[in-house]
Amino acid sequence: HGTIKLAVIPGDGIGQEVTAEAVKVLEVASPAGVKFEQTRYDLGAERYLATGEVLPDSVLDEIRQHDAILLGAVGGKPNDPNLPPGILERGLLLRLRFELDHYVNLRPSRIFPGVPGPLADPGEVDFVVVREGTEGPYTGNGGSLRVGTPHEVATEVSVNTAFGVERVVRDAFARAQRRPRKKLTLVHKTNVLVHAGSVWWRIFQSVAAEHPDVTTDYMHIDAATIFMTTDPARFDVIVTDNLFGDIITDLAAAITGGIGLAASGNVNPDRTAPSMFEPVHGSAPDIAGQQKADPTAAILSAALLLDHLGYADAAAAIESAAIADIAERPAGSSPTGGRRTSEVGDAIAARVAG
Ligand code: NAD
Ligand code: IPM
Ligand code: MN
Repeated sequence: HGTIKLAVIPGDGIGQEVTAEAVKVLEVASPAGVKFEQTRYDLGAERYLATGEVLPDSVLDEIRQHDAILLGAVGGKPNDPNLPPGILERGLLLRLRFELDHYVNLRPSRIFPGVPGPLADPGEVDFVVVREGTEGPYTGNGGSLRVGTPHEVATEVSVNTAFGVERVVRDAFARAQRRPRKKLTLVHKTNVLVHAGSVWWRIFQSVAAEHPDVTTDYMHIDAATIFMTTDPARFDVIVTDNLFGDIITDLAAAITGGIGLAASGNVNPDRTAPSMFEPVHGSAPDIAGQQKADPTAAILSAALLLDHLGYADAAAAIESAAIADIAERPAGSSPTGGRRTSEVGDAIAARVAG
């Protein structure tokens, strides 16, 4: 080993603020003898507005040469007249996920000790959503006809390939097998989305037959939001479609202490390209530039990054430090426990340093 080549894309809004803290913590957590070689990429709204560039091919090629990517968030204020909707989300974030084959979008949720949440008696909540990352309604397969007329027709066609579904379902079974409860829930909408639902259901069933030690369950997405609110402790691993996974992981964050704690990894399990780690949240234009954002999600994403690269001890050190910090935040305080974003990063870094 020796050197970890890290591509850092702070992006927009609070993405820049929280990424600075994640990098700070990564540096102190660096395993003995390992050096980070960071390259920063100034991709995002500012660069787009100044140059018209979103993700030049040459930059994508450079990013590919790294061991992992740390991303903050991209996207501007909703409905900014200068930023066409989706330009950064599709052109930068989704393009990275698609081009680098991040087919497993890993989103763990736990209720950490001492974390106040909206649920009175949630029990032991510790589940992980394996969200498909390269297909579904996200592929851009759609179009508009007769735009602006009363007869306008807009379609976004959900793409579900046997190849794409099988690889993410297999990954989810493997993850379930490695966890104590060994339980996997498929979340879909097979009662209405019958074509996509059929391929997901058949593949889920056939891969289940190869994993008799994994308990399986199925839930429609609408019912899943009920159980996630009334009985989240029932979930262990959830595997689901790209869009359902997007929605349910914001809900998962809300019930486990807030979006400021929710980490994620866009994983390429075959390691044919670097995986990318980022908080579940966005650029939060409503609090950007004020040092109000909670950097914990970004810091925990950095822990997922180290774990992915095989540095389990360094990852665990970051996670324990974050958990200890969270436990000491005064009840009823702001997400940061009344501190500036950088102070939270300093505090967690200090704990990691010992
Ligand atoms: P958002 O996650 O940015 O914000 C939702 C709410 O959560 C806001 O009130 C915000 O202040 C709060 N919040 C988010 N992160 C927080 C943190 N770390 N600490 C404290 N509060 C936090 O979602 P949105 O408002 O729907 O989207 C804003 C922009 O971000 C849009 O342009 C959207 O496309 C983009 N976005 C990007 C990503 C990403 O890059 N992965 C993810 C989601 C949204
Ligand atoms: C997320 C975000 C993205 C998604 C958007 C910004 C493209 O909401 O990472 O959850 O929908 O995947
Ligand atoms: Mn989302």
